[in-house]
Amino acid sequence: MVLDDMLWGAASAAYQIEGAPDEDGKGPSIWDVFSHLPGHIRDGQNGDVACDHYHRWREDVELLAGLGVNAYRFSVSWPRVLPTGRGAVNHAGLDFYDRLVDALCERSIAPALTLFHWDLPQALEEKGGWLNRDTAAYFADYAGIVADRLADRVPLWITLNEPFVHMAYGYALGLHAPGHALLTDALPTAHHQLLAHGLAVRELRARNAGRVLLTNNCTPVWPASRAPEDLAAADAYDTLHNRLFNDPVLLGRYPDLSAYGTDLAPVVRDGDLELIAAPLDGLGVNYYNPTRIAAPDAPGLPFQDAGITGYPTTAFGWPVVPDGLRELLAGLRARYGPALPPIYVTENGCSQPDVPDERGTIDDRARIAYLDGHLAALDAARAEGVDVRGYFVWSLTDNFEWAEGHHQRFGLVHVDYATQRRTPKASYHWYREEIARRSG
Ligand code: FCB
Repeated sequence: MVLDDMLWGAASAAYQIEGAPDEDGKGPSIWDVFSHLPGHIRDGQNGDVACDHYHRWREDVELLAGLGVNAYRFSVSWPRVLPTGRGAVNHAGLDFYDRLVDALCERSIAPALTLFHWDLPQALEEKGGWLNRDTAAYFADYAGIVADRLADRVPLWITLNEPFVHMAYGYALGLHAPGHALLTDALPTAHHQLLAHGLAVRELRARNAGRVLLTNNCTPVWPASRAPEDLAAADAYDTLHNRLFNDPVLLGRYPDLSAYGTDLAPVVRDGDLELIAAPLDGLGVNYYNPTRIAAPDAPGLPFQDAGITGYPTTAFGWPVVPDGLRELLAGLRARYGPALPPIYVTENGCSQPDVPDERGTIDDRARIAYLDGHLAALDAARAEGVDVRGYFVWSLTDNFEWAEGHHQRFGLVHVDYATQRRTPKASYHWYREEIARRSG
C-alpha cells in the first residue's frame, strides 16, 4: 500500500486488546505471567480476554473503516509468532496478522505495524530478558520472519514501542512486566533494546519493508524553578527520559549519564552505535504530558517528579497540556536540527470515566477537548516548520491499560467488558469529521 502524505490514524497494542493468550499455539509473554501474579494489576485484573480482539478483529476493522482513518497502528505479539521467542515459527500466529493486514488493505487503511509493544516471550525473560544482549539478536530474527510474511503489504514499521517506559517501569521500578526493581542497574536494557532496534532495521531494509521508525515516549521537561539544583535535576531527567533513547538513534552517541554515576561502556561494543544510528524514515513520538522536575530531597536518583498543578487532569491524573505537544516537537527540531527525520505522533490521547448514559451514549466531551487542543498544537508545530507525517489517537477501543487493568478508558470506542459490546463515543464521531475535514 502507498502511504498518504499525512496519516490520520488510531493505535492499539497486542496485549492490551487481543486476549487469547494460549490459543492457536501462542506461547506466554511476560505480561501473561506478570498479570497473574498477585498485587501487580489493579483489582487483580489481567489481559486474558481484554477486548477479545483475536476473535472480534473483523468488527474492529469495521470500526476503523467507519472512522475514516487512512492508517491503523497495531502490534504483533512476538510469542504468537515465536512461542518461545526463537526457533520454530507458529504459522497460525502469523496467519492472524496476515488476515488483519489484508482486511485493512481492502479498506484502504495502511497497516502500521509495531514489532514490540512490551510483550516479550516469557522464555526469553527466563534467559534475562532485555538484560541479556542475545535478546537483541532474537528480536532481529523475529523482525525478519514477520517482514518475510508482511513486508509486501505493510508500508510502515515501528521496531519498538517506548523503550524508556519498558526500561523504567519494567526493569527499574517493577511496576510493569517483567517486574524487576533494579533502579539504575536497569540501564543495560536501554542499550539492548536500542541494539535490537538497529539490528531489526537492517533486517527490515533487507526486505524492502517500506518506512521504518522507532517510537519513543517523549516529554517536555519543566524545571520546578530556576535554582541551579532544579535545573540540574531537570537536565538529568531529560537525559534519561528523552536523550538516552533519541541521541544514539539520531546522533550515534549516548548522552552523558554521569548524573547517574554510571555509563553504558560495559555493554556497548564496537559497531553497536553504527547499527543503532542507521537512518530512519521517521521518528515515532508518543506524547501524553510534560513532566515537572525538582532536585531530589532524598538520596538515590538525581531528580524527583514535582508534579504539575493548574491544568485539568485525565482520569489517570495526568495533566492536560496540549501546547506541550508543540513544545515537544519544536524542541526536538531545535535539538536535532537536520538529524531529525519526519515525525509521526504514534500515540496521543486521554483516559476519561466514560460512563454510558441511560440511552447508552457516551458523551466524552473532555476527550474531544483534549484531542482538539492537541491537534491545534500539532498544527502549530507544523506551522513552525516541524515535518509531521502522522497522528494516531491512543486508542481505537478502551483496552487493558497495563498495571491499571481495565480502569483507564482511552478509547474512541467504548467496550463493555461484560458483553464485549463496542459503542463509538462522541469523540469517535468528532474525530471522523475532523479527519474528513482535514483530508478533504
Ligand atoms: C503508552 C503506551 C500505551 C498506552 C498508553 C496510555 O505509554 O505505549 O500502550 O498504555 O501509554
